[in-house]
Amino acid sequence: MRLRAALPLVGALACEPSSKVDTGSPTVDTGPTHPCLEAGADCTLAETARARGVHAGAAVPNGVDEDRQQAVLTHFDSVTAENAMKWGAICPTHDACDFERADAFVDWAHSAGLRIRGHALVWGQSPGHGHPGDLDELTAEADDPETVMASLITEHIQATVARYAGRVESWDVINEPLSPGGSGMDESVFFEAMGSEYINHALEAAHAADPDARLFINEYVVSDYGGEKAQNFVALLEELLAQGAPLHGAGIQAHLYVEVPDPDVLGALIHDIAALGLDVELTEIDMARTALLEQTNAGMELFDAQAEAYGVLAEACLAEPRCTGLTTWGIDDSHSWLDSTAPYDALAPNAPLLLDEHLEPKPAYLAVRELLAVGAQ
Ligand code: XIL
Repeated sequence: MRLRAALPLVGALACEPSSKVDTGSPTVDTGPTHPCLEAGADCTLAETARARGVHAGAAVPNGVDEDRQQAVLTHFDSVTAENAMKWGAICPTHDACDFERADAFVDWAHSAGLRIRGHALVWGQSPGHGHPGDLDELTAEADDPETVMASLITEHIQATVARYAGRVESWDVINEPLSPGGSGMDESVFFEAMGSEYINHALEAAHAADPDARLFINEYVVSDYGGEKAQNFVALLEELLAQGAPLHGAGIQAHLYVEVPDPDVLGALIHDIAALGLDVELTEIDMARTALLEQTNAGMELFDAQAEAYGVLAEACLAEPRCTGLTTWGIDDSHSWLDSTAPYDALAPNAPLLLDEHLEPKPAYLAVRELLAVGAQ
């Protein structure tokens, strides 16, 4: 049985956004059906998502223009900064931090009433972007790299999470802890200095800085959502919970690179994570053209293939009451990181998002909206 609440209609006009759902603790639906929650309803994605109690989000690039800001407000109820809140984006080196862009993003999103996912506090990739470029050097020089790294992490998390407490609803505290292939931990600068203890340490620091924020670990799977990496991700989450870590959710990035996941396999992964008592979100949805070659080579239109793929992801989330959100990695097809990332840039434009470059809803948008409208089947 589905327990996620449809918001009651008290005082609301048809399709008017309802107040934000408090995620994490689904309540029983007792009210009348919201007009956006009917097959064929013509509400925006944001209105439908609000009514369904599942966040529909977009990653917002730096320097986005006003039309795109407006499109976010119209179509989405949640945002992630594509880059502005990463540790290395704030602090290219550990002692040269500038919160200006992150502050502007949080001020804008919060005053617009958007839910904010903070991304990402500790990420081992991309020195100078994912984390400060001098962490390697600082720990290599230290007599006691573990203590040095622990205090660098504490200092950053304390400053950042406390700064946005009450406005950032959830944080990707750790991004991509596993090795790319997933056979073990990623041997990042954090792992090298502290072993996997860096994860507990970061979670504790984030929890101390904002006890109300939902704390996530965010990870990607290249193709097999039931394979070694996915299984090791679940095992890592389980181990952290057994150790008493303040962990509330797991993000599955859901960049599709190779193929569209098998719905049952993805559903099982989401279910296994939820069964640990964690919330789940699909945090960075998009799809390279390479993931849809089978369909497009067989003559299917790209946008129709995308609609099917987005449908698989949305259905898997809707089937699990603890799946609290779906976020696309970008706003519209005019800007996608895939178009400047090898090898996916070779087939640019990948056009992987829900809105086209003119900000018009695509078939994938309509497919996700309809699934949100009718709910888990
Ligand atoms: C990417 C951004 O989209 C790019 O603009 C940036 O140059 C590199 O990072 N997984 C993540 C995201 O968790 O932070 C990454 O974002 C994409 C892969």
